[in-house]
Amino acid sequence: MTTINNRLIFSALFVSFVIYSAYIYTAGTEATHIAPMSEEARHGQQVYQKYNCVACHQFYGLGGYIGPDLTNVISNRGAAYSSAFITAGTARMPNLGLSPEEVVAVVAYLGFVDKTGTYPPENYEVTWFGTVRQEDDPQ
Ligand code: HEC
Repeated sequence: MTTINNRLIFSALFVSFVIYSAYIYTAGTEATHIAPMSEEARHGQQVYQKYNCVACHQFYGLGGYIGPDLTNVISNRGAAYSSAFITAGTARMPNLGLSPEEVVAVVAYLGFVDKTGTYPPENYEVTWFGTVRQEDDPQ
């Protein structure tokens, strides 16, 4: 009796595993609601890494904490404001000596990051299975 039960449980789990694996492998990983990264933004990402902006800044709360979070700096403060900070520095942020092209590229990258979501999330919903979904995220 127990052997039959064990086989039944094993088969049920195995079938669930196969179905779930098939679903995961075919669902894809494209984030369809976000426009693909432009060449300029891609270059800007390299600039962001080259000057190690993450040492002081965060995206989605992750990074260094000397400067503010930059996830939504473009919609909150604007591209001109950001370019000015990056070009000239302030008393608290060093002027890192970026070329004008690098400034344009890194601002394009900040614009791309800005479109990926909102941080901290303003409207969110906890799904029945325990994950948090932003309301502007159609996933
Ligand atoms: C040594 C630490 C440090 C590094 C490295 C750094 N920043 Fe900053 N950044 C700061 C600080 C501190 C501020 C806040 C300055 C102020 O308010 O005077 C700031 C402010 C900013 C702002 C304005 C943000 C706001 O909300 O007002 C932008 C945009 C910015 N930094 C972009 C960058 C980029 C892009 C890089 C890399 C090229 C970078 N920073 C590298 C420390 C840094």
